[in-house]
Amino acid sequence: MRNHAPFGGASTSNPTATGAPATKDRKLSPAEKLVLDLSNVDLRANALHELSRKRELFQDLAPLLWYSFGTIAALLQFVDAKSFYLQEIVSIYPVLSPPKLTLAQSNRVCDAIALLQCVASHPDTRMLFLKAHIPLYLYLFLNTTNKSRPFENLRLISLGVIGALVKVEDTEIISFLLSTEIIPLCLRTMEMGGELSKTVEFIKFNLFSNCAVATFIVQKILLDDVGLDYICTTAERFFAVGQVLANMVAEIAEQPSSRLLKRIIRCYLRLSDNPRACEALRSCLPDMLRDATFSACLRVSTCGRSRHEEVAATVASQCRGESGANALGRCWI
Ligand code: TRP
Repeated sequence: MRNHAPFGGASTSNPTATGAPATKDRKLSPAEKLVLDLSNVDLRANALHELSRKRELFQDLAPLLWYSFGTIAALLQFVDAKSFYLQEIVSIYPVLSPPKLTLAQSNRVCDAIALLQCVASHPDTRMLFLKAHIPLYLYLFLNTTNKSRPFENLRLISLGVIGALVKVEDTEIISFLLSTEIIPLCLRTMEMGGELSKTVEFIKFNLFSNCAVATFIVQKILLDDVGLDYICTTAERFFAVGQVLANMVAEIAEQPSSRLLKRIIRCYLRLSDNPRACEALRSCLPDMLRDATFSACLRVSTCGRSRHEEVAATVASQCRGESGANALGRCWI
């Protein structure tokens, strides 16, 4: 039986006819063709690369990836097989010099993860992606600490998937990420950014990008009430976050970045919405945020006081007053 599309039948002119009937005479769209190629071992690498390169151009690629037969399984197999390989590398890492993940291997996994990011970003597939616990496949990559480009790229694209998830500000997403302990992973990446000034120029950009995305994720989590509560539940959690933020502030004083500084200030501002955290910030908010250290860095393209300068001043004034270590412990008793 022939199934007719409502407008003009099975069309060959519609390049993204994902919902159209699969009749014999309908030509596959370029995206459909490439997705089909993913299941062919010989064509897979090229298809993976082409799809990830053009993912912004293919409309509704995410549902196509998600609902086409075996595609996600193939991508995960790919990611998982590599992650197993990676795990092996990491476990023998101390005796490996240099670490063995090549740029070519890393690029292939990054292509697969870029397609997962596409699925994570699309409103129709985002929650399905989450419910299938697919982000967990990426945590292993986030757990690596090697600073070579193949590893940095892998972390950046993995963070990008998490970043795409938190962008939509959905409590269910935040709760999932918290329950799977994304915060310590983000803090680790942010800490690596703290070594920027000791880093040679060519890897600085990578480190910085990773650090910026990890900070963005923490910021988005803090903006959610569940996230703020989670971080302020124990003194250990609060101080772990506070310490990393403070180290980054010190780092930015040497390597100015107004974009990153603004993110950090927003994190502090949000922390100050929690009474105990606000109390603790009175003594652990970096002095550099109270004085004029960053006035130049914050005053970008606006005359007079910029909005962020106001924000910095607000955090500082909210957190002013009692200081000293004894104030800290008391907030969590
Ligand atoms: N299991 C740890 C906890 O719940 C996870 C953790 C480690 C953590 N470091 C953190 C959570 C920093 C928040 C902030 O505390």
